[in-house]
Amino acid sequence: MEVTEQDFDFLRRLVFDDSGIVLEPGKEYLIETRLAPILRREEMGSFSDLVRALRPPSDIRLRDLVIDAMTTNETSFFRDSHPWDALRTGILPELIEARKGVRSLTIWCAASSSGQEPYSLAMLLHEHFPEVAKSWSVRIIGTDLSPSMVEKSSSGRFSQLEVNRGLPARMLMTYFTREGTEWQISDDVRKMVDFRLGNLVEPSSVAQIPLVDGVFVRNVLIYFNTETRAGILSRVHGRLRTDGFLMLGSSETAVGTDSSYERVRYDKTAVFRPATATSRTPANTQLTRI
Ligand SMILES: C[S@@+](CC[C@H](N)C(=O)[O-])C[C@H]1O[C@@H](n2cnc3c(N)ncnc32)[C@H](O)[C@@H]1O
Repeated sequence: MEVTEQDFDFLRRLVFDDSGIVLEPGKEYLIETRLAPILRREEMGSFSDLVRALRPPSDIRLRDLVIDAMTTNETSFFRDSHPWDALRTGILPELIEARKGVRSLTIWCAASSSGQEPYSLAMLLHEHFPEVAKSWSVRIIGTDLSPSMVEKSSSGRFSQLEVNRGLPARMLMTYFTREGTEWQISDDVRKMVDFRLGNLVEPSSVAQIPLVDGVFVRNVLIYFNTETRAGILSRVHGRLRTDGFLMLGSSETAVGTDSSYERVRYDKTAVFRPATATSRTPANTQLTRI
């Protein structure tokens, strides 16, 4: 079923207003393929029926279903590998040293999709920093705009295909148990992560996040325009402790978008730090400002 130009325009504006996700003209096929199941389920004959139901006073449930369907939830365990090497060898050791007095770490995975990213972090802590994982107060917060992703990630259950992507076989055996055709993550890992709904474009949603020591905003800024990205990076900055780190996806940057971050290189990976903290970095650390 094809979407008319007028209906496409209405739907892309609605998606932009609620999520910040930009659908350029030419992306009609995305609307058509992702929203077709909703039309079937709601027994609607065309996209115009859907648009009528979404016009004010709109059906909130339907609006949420549309936004959920338009999110791209691609993710995997230990995605891109280099950032995880940098976390293991540089970023986390420095952070742990800095927090050894308070023995507490809070990390926020914004846009956590089906949970592979926060669970990768929890497993990495168990593997390489067992004392921290077992006896410190460690809180990993996973947030996402998509209700179906928050529900899935909270369950800690993954398909064979999902665990085949990026998760070493030994870690699968250590941290998961097989349940039928799926794999259930262990309670030790599950309980380190707290999942909830969160919208990065909503200031009141971001304001609910406590001050954090590190934040992952990976592979999500690519869906937004420059203005939306700048707003998100500024709101995230407000949740980040002054010596904390921001990790973005490999094709994303905070430099040039928001001057309150500095890029700091760890071998093949870069993270961003609140500029004032970086300028206080002692010369003997492995950070190189570029
Ligand atoms: C491609 S996934 C990235 C997942 C993970 N960070 C990674 O790098 O593997 C992008 C996620 O961003 C979420 N998302 C899109 N817009 C969002 C928004 N405005 N606020 C919060 N999450 C959003 C989507 O629901 C999706 O799960």
